[in-house]
Amino acid sequence: MKILVTGGAGFIGANFIQYWLKKHPSDSIVNLDKLTYAGNLENLAQIKENKNYSFVHGDICDPKVVDSAFEKVETIVHFAADSHVDRSILDPDPFIKTNIEGTYVLLKASLKHGVKRFHHVSTDEVFGSLDIESKEKFTEKTPYDPRSPYSASKAASDHLVRAFHETFGLPITISNCSNNFGPYQFPEKLMSLCITNILEGKKVPVYGDGLNIRDWLYVEDHCEAIELILEKGAVGETYLVGGLTEDIPNKEAVSRILKLMEKDEKEIEYVKDRPGHDRKYSVDWSKIKTELGWEPKHSFDQALKETVDWYKNNEAWWKHVKSGEYKNYYKQQYSS
Ligand code: NAD
Ligand code: TYD
Repeated sequence: MKILVTGGAGFIGANFIQYWLKKHPSDSIVNLDKLTYAGNLENLAQIKENKNYSFVHGDICDPKVVDSAFEKVETIVHFAADSHVDRSILDPDPFIKTNIEGTYVLLKASLKHGVKRFHHVSTDEVFGSLDIESKEKFTEKTPYDPRSPYSASKAASDHLVRAFHETFGLPITISNCSNNFGPYQFPEKLMSLCITNILEGKKVPVYGDGLNIRDWLYVEDHCEAIELILEKGAVGETYLVGGLTEDIPNKEAVSRILKLMEKDEKEIEYVKDRPGHDRKYSVDWSKIKTELGWEPKHSFDQALKETVDWYKNNEAWWKHVKSGEYKNYYKQQYSS
């Protein structure tokens, strides 16, 4: 099988390509990536010589590039996106362009080339925010209620993907997953920023009162969920994918990392809250468990330890990533 992966030089895409080629060595993968600040070919250094892997440097918004990347492709796994909420607050433009228009270009090309499956990787953030005390969890039936430019753009892309299935019969599946963490995550997201700041001897910025709650998913568990959806998922269906965390507030998640790294809570610096900060996400992943037999394998604490160890052992990777453009972003985001 030939798979087109978009955004494969980013965090989850790179983990997915490595995972897939290990498990399916006779399949081939084309990775179409624009290499924005978040795209990094060092994430794929281990497989760059693999004869079943090729890279196309290009923008998913460019119909010509997209058309050329589709040759003999049967399956597309669409990760490419602008993915960070804080950046979508600083400037929503690239989010609207890549996440909505780029997805539309890919959908049209998928119809034209008659792909057998278009899998769209989306987020639980499309469902909005839960009350902190609520025991409710997002399900596949929860109405969409996005509240940031990022989540609104992802919601729009989900609607387009579903519309191409209903209207034109494109064989699609969608997964909406919770916050991923693990190796190769760009250090702008909470976990990777926290671990690398501690390694650099810097404080960890926690927004507001630190009581916001996220559901945490280890990236390898996520890759396995996508694999199962591609193999056994029903066309036209959406699957929610989440982790093994039970309502862990951000400051507790950060404290667990600090403990693993033999530091204490003095390293936390409470900073100005994010505008429109969603209070709580919680994911009910019983549908994918019941229908496809998936469940996360990594406990939160075990996965955190593996992630901390990976950053400790890959200092050159994150030091390189934290140079250049990152420094300007960090100053703009955290200076006040
Ligand atoms: P990331 O920001 O690490 O990587 C995104 C990749 O897409 C980069 O390699 C970038 O160069 C590429 N890209 C961006 N714009 C492009 C364009 N116009 N054309 C081609 N390539 C482009 O993102 P990630 O964390 O790996 O997330 C992957 C997907 O998973 C996204 O769709 C995101 O919305 C979704 N998701 C992520 C999380 C998470 O916790 N990281 C959670 C839920 C859903
Ligand atoms: P993030 O990793 O940006 O993911 P998302 O906003 O998509 O859930 O943030 C996770 C949580 O951590 C979120 O509640 C915001 C909070 N946060 C901080 O407290 N400090 C930070 O420096 C960052 C980046 C996030």
